[in-house]
Amino acid sequence: MSMSENWSQTPMMICELHMTKKNNKIQHMKKFIFTIAILGFAIQGYSQNAAKGKGVYDKVCVACHQPTGQGIPGAFPPLAKSDYLNADVNRAIKGVVKGLTGPITVNGKKFNSAMPAQALSDQQIADALTYVYASWGNSKKVITPAMVKAQRK
Ligand code: HEC
Repeated sequence: MSMSENWSQTPMMICELHMTKKNNKIQHMKKFIFTIAILGFAIQGYSQNAAKGKGVYDKVCVACHQPTGQGIPGAFPPLAKSDYLNADVNRAIKGVVKGLTGPITVNGKKFNSAMPAQALSDQQIADALTYVYASWGNSKKVITPAMVKAQRK
């Protein structure tokens, strides 16, 4: 190999090294964008659930629990900042699925009334409760259809 041949290859090698670094950067960028996309989908899925749940709530639950979950004193318990609701997710689901009767205490007030079992699908109940949990100072729990199904037994 002559001297001149060797010299002519050096810039090529530097160029290749540069390209690998650039590819690494692109890989990192791809991973970053991918992560953001997944996060975006997760958040969107969550808000979609809550948005659909608002539809169910405003059609069904609103009659008793009122538009902002305040309930009606002495008759319908509040869902807004409800200690009863936030203390036990499965108990709340079960009440909606199977109905709820008998004395309960919500935020220090006694109720002794009856909520009929709500004739809704697992998905509708999951969405409605996800909306309720996401609203009015509640604990932001996400309720899945599988969690609702488990309370039907
Ligand atoms: C016909 C009126 C009525 C409808 C419609 C109704 N509820 Fe109720 N709900 C009640 C009553 C009454 C109670 C309290 C029952 C008792 O005193 O034992 C209650 C209790 C609850 C509780 C537990 C107590 C609390 O305040 O945290 C939750 C949670 C709840 N309802 C959610 C819902 C959701 C979600 C819907 C709609 C899918 C709904 N309810 C529809 C009347 C209703």
